[in-house]
Amino acid sequence: MCVRWILLMMRLACCTVLLFLLRLLVGLPWFQVLPSILIFYLGSGGWKFVLIFAKTIRRDLHAAGVLLKVKSNVNRHLKERNTLPKIFAETVRRHGDKTALIFEGTGEKWSFRQLDEYSNRVANLLLQRGFVEGDVVALFMENRSQYVGLWLGMAKIGVEAALINFNLRLEALVHCVTISNAKAVVFGSELTEGEDQGSYAVFAFSGVFQARSIKPLVLLLSPLFSIVVLLYVFIDFSPYVGLPDRLFYIYTSGTTGMPKAAIVVHSRYYRMAALVYYGFGMTSDDVLYDCLPLYHSAGNIVGVGQCLIHGMTVVIKKKFSASRFWDDCAKYNCTIVQYIGEICRYLLNQPVKDIEGKHKVRMALGNGLRQSIWEEFTSRFNVPQIAEFYGATECNCSLGNFDNMTGACGFNSQILPFIYPIRLVKVDEETMELIRGPDGVCIPCGPGEPGQLVGRINQKDPLRRFDGYVNEGANSKKTANSVFKKGDTAYLSGDVLVMDQYGYMYFKDRTGDTFRWKGENVSTTEVEGTLSRLLDMMDVVVYGVEVPGAEGKAGMAAVADPERSTDLEKFGKDLEKALPPYARPVFLRFLKEVNKTGTYKFQKTDMRQDGFDPSMVSDKLYFLDPTRGRYVELHQELYSSIISGKQKL
Ligand SMILES: *[C@@H]1O[C@H](CO)[C@@H](O)[C@H](O)[C@H]1NC(C)=O
Ligand SMILES: *[C@@H]1O[C@H](CO)[C@@H](O)[C@H](O)[C@H]1NC(C)=O
Ligand SMILES: *[C@@H]1O[C@H](CO)[C@@H](O)[C@H](O)[C@H]1NC(C)=O
Ligand SMILES: *[C@@H]1O[C@H](CO)[C@@H](O)[C@H](O)[C@H]1NC(C)=O
Ligand SMILES: *[C@@H]1O[C@H](CO)[C@@H](O)[C@H](O)[C@H]1NC(C)=O
Ligand SMILES: *[C@@H]1O[C@H](CO)[C@@H](O)[C@H](O)[C@H]1NC(C)=O
Repeated sequence: MCVRWILLMMRLACCTVLLFLLRLLVGLPWFQVLPSILIFYLGSGGWKFVLIFAKTIRRDLHAAGVLLKVKSNVNRHLKERNTLPKIFAETVRRHGDKTALIFEGTGEKWSFRQLDEYSNRVANLLLQRGFVEGDVVALFMENRSQYVGLWLGMAKIGVEAALINFNLRLEALVHCVTISNAKAVVFGSELTEGEDQGSYAVFAFSGVFQARSIKPLVLLLSPLFSIVVLLYVFIDFSPYVGLPDRLFYIYTSGTTGMPKAAIVVHSRYYRMAALVYYGFGMTSDDVLYDCLPLYHSAGNIVGVGQCLIHGMTVVIKKKFSASRFWDDCAKYNCTIVQYIGEICRYLLNQPVKDIEGKHKVRMALGNGLRQSIWEEFTSRFNVPQIAEFYGATECNCSLGNFDNMTGACGFNSQILPFIYPIRLVKVDEETMELIRGPDGVCIPCGPGEPGQLVGRINQKDPLRRFDGYVNEGANSKKTANSVFKKGDTAYLSGDVLVMDQYGYMYFKDRTGDTFRWKGENVSTTEVEGTLSRLLDMMDVVVYGVEVPGAEGKAGMAAVADPERSTDLEKFGKDLEKALPPYARPVFLRFLKEVNKTGTYKFQKTDMRQDGFDPSMVSDKLYFLDPTRGRYVELHQELYSSIISGKQKL
């Protein structure tokens, strides 16, 4: 009796506290909050509620505080019509001579003032050349030193930059420039070198730059655009500051099809950088190591944003180098490093060095660190905190692992799940189709059930708006109707996640990458992680291939093994311990390297089409012989007997 009373009182107290906080934090009206709490209160069984409450209240309060702070800052900036350049001007006032950017490679350092002056010169030059607010200029350069200054300068006069992946060539490049409607292209001289003197000259502004030929590029672009090359800019005036909405365009790195230009508005830039800053508890004294491409949001917003908005020193590395990584960190006293999952794998693949434990890095910030190497990474490199987050440039459902939970990429409050309108909904993991209930609304997933992450879109709230893509047609595929309730619109992340009972979310797979084999769902991401760990962190790409007469898709793994050092005997044995039978790849393909995008995402489409036909694929192929339990070479004869169904799988 007594225990029950205590429990009841605790639950009541929890609810009252919550109710109060909610009122305070999100300003939801009572009549919305009360029923939800009541439902939760009644629906949850005694101890479970208290347990979840106790385990997650700190986390949730922290997150609520962060959201509230960022939201109020965004609202303030919107009200005062503060653009990113204005926010930056404030940062310059506060930090003036502090180092803003360090360019690893040349060792060049720019103070906040220098960065400001440089961007002013860019702004003035563009004004002189007749560019006006709303014009788009494509930025196509590899060189890091001027990159930030260039787009910031453009932003100062309301010119929108289209940040183009400098690895693109030919059609993809033309496509990106075309859809941005750019009036001009700015590109770095490094991308023109190696071309011989041809018939196309490029306009030059100052004596410093000589006209050069850039044949393939100009050939393709010149009929379409006036080409402008900016290199050094000498004129100086104080620039006029406009109030444009759009800051720049970032292209989604499509692993299939052509890239899409996602719009980044000023408030979104601020929001992304600020959420990370406050959420993970950074300070302006931190030094951040940024070796990610600046044409993507991770490098240019999450990384560089800390410099522009919060006055942090950011070390920019032109190209990621696994062997120099920790040396650089030690050299520049970096306290935060940025990663994407593959980077962690390449680092683990390096031989052990003394320096890797002797640095001041206190936090690794990024996205895509797999559970299979999470602990190995933190313990080997002595990194106390992993700040894993989830969210794409255009995403409507960002998550952050604010409290260092192993393996998680974020969470959603279980005490008050409706505050942050994201959800996992049931989806056919193979075809990506949303599964809907009888009322036509998507079905939410319970703890442990994998589902696609979706985020509700509310165009009225600047924090919830979906800014979309430049070409309108691209929008519809990423959104769906009637997801949370009838008639609403939600953003589809395209990723499958799993949530535990405390609300921690774990990345599982990209929708459409999962395949079914022997009646089980195989997550390619998970298998890739495991295989790569077994194979000394080599690049491994897993996908399903169709075998005539067999139900589902058979797993196939492409392994990038340039030295052919894999011991198949041992690998087969390890595999038996590491993976359930249905997840073990039936076919193996060894090749020199696998195709990747600029952000190390694997390109599977070609390989999936190649399949496992030895007459089509020149690489070495192997087949997992089910009777002997080991891999044997896949020759034409064996292939025929598999196709005809004689050989069992
Ligand atoms: C590229 O970087 C090099 C070395 O820092 C520099 O000399 C060169 O001027 C830069 N080029 C451009 C286009 O910024
Ligand atoms: C790094 O820190 C050490 C000691 O605190 C200092 O001597 C050194 O100058 C710093 N290096 C840089 C690049 O700031
Ligand atoms: C983060 O978690 C790891 C592993 O659980 C732990 O060793 C580390 O101390 C934690 N770091 C912080 C900052 O709490
Ligand atoms: C595989 O996923 C589908 C939905 O995509 C689900 O209906 C099915 O139960 C899953 N199978 C297993 C074995 O988990
Ligand atoms: C939805 O997108 C908007 C920006 O378009 C963003 O501000 C908002 O936070 C997103 N919603 C969620 C739940 O993340
Ligand atoms: C990698 O990309 C190139 C060019 O697109 C293509 O020719 C090649 O077949 C691809 N390699 C694989 C293994 O798919």
